[in-house]
Amino acid sequence: MRTQVTSVATVMGVSRIFKGKTGVVHALDNVSFDLKPGRTLALVGESGSGKTTAARVLLGLDTPNSGSIEILGRTLGLLKHEELRLLRREIQVVQQDPFSQLNRRHSVERIISGPLLAFNIGDKESRRDQVVELLKSVGLEKEHLRRRPHELSGGQCQRVAIARALALDPKIVVLDEAVSALDVSVRAQVLNLLRRIQEERGLTYLFITHDLGVAHYMADEIAVMFRGRIVERGNRDDVFNNSRHHYTVGLLSSVPLATPSATKRSREQVQALPSPGVDDACLYRSRCALGLGREDCKSTPLKITQGSETHSWLCHSPVEHG
Ligand SMILES: Nc1ncnc2c1ncn2[C@@H]1O[C@H](COP(=O)(O)OP(=O)(O)O)[C@@H](O)[C@H]1O
Ligand SMILES: [Mg+2]
Repeated sequence: MRTQVTSVATVMGVSRIFKGKTGVVHALDNVSFDLKPGRTLALVGESGSGKTTAARVLLGLDTPNSGSIEILGRTLGLLKHEELRLLRREIQVVQQDPFSQLNRRHSVERIISGPLLAFNIGDKESRRDQVVELLKSVGLEKEHLRRRPHELSGGQCQRVAIARALALDPKIVVLDEAVSALDVSVRAQVLNLLRRIQEERGLTYLFITHDLGVAHYMADEIAVMFRGRIVERGNRDDVFNNSRHHYTVGLLSSVPLATPSATKRSREQVQALPSPGVDDACLYRSRCALGLGREDCKSTPLKITQGSETHSWLCHSPVEHG
């Protein structure tokens, strides 16, 4: 029998436009995804594809221009200030830079107890006990309480940031390139720690990474982003073993995707292409070996193809397998 899995967070048709001196950037263009309880969705894509913006709107740190976001059954845009503050207990974040996300003047104890203080939880003594417990759960010791970030390694700083994220016992943790700055061996340790903590606490992760190896290790589901759009989404095996979008295939292979002639054409035609994100047609076409030659890639608005219950993509001429 199938078990009914409900979402702990749902992002529906969210767009976020930034207007800068150089023009308009569609950081998110009609993005939809959901987070299932106790599972990990990896958001992958190159730098500038909109991953952090997606995290920020989910965390309620940024407001989308359109679309809606539900967390634990509550709609973000409809919440009053205090309701939003309370909901923030349930969704926490760990960022990329081990040092800059921690206040360098504060001790580890103060950093990890910060969220407890902010929500007026416990007294000084019980907070210390809680911080010691949290330190243990991320593989650090009581002796680290007094240290400051510059007295810790990058890996230890990330463990402190994880402990702080766990302090309020959230349901959802957003990990935005949380292991990207770490050395390979330390990265593996922190990934294992994150998996163990997820198992113990039944946490839901939104795991943002540009590293597909890391996504493969961590994710149940994967959403591939390109220039503000989710171009392919599915269970891990759908995306890795049955990739349908040419961008996903390009990400997965180390060889350059475009054929020499496509590259030449792309150089010639790049001027004629509309600026990023302002049209409904495929934004990947200038880099896709197929896209430049096909009329529909240039002019026909894209629609999501739902290939199976779990797997969807945004492409007129998806990669064929077998
Ligand atoms: N506050 C902002 N103001 C203007 N442009 C922004 C802002 N935040 C993000 N962007 C732009 O939105 C796009 C997506 O950025 P981001 O979400 O940080 O991507 P990623 O995390 O995938 O690298 C980029 O083009 C970036 O320059
Ligand atoms: Mg980012």
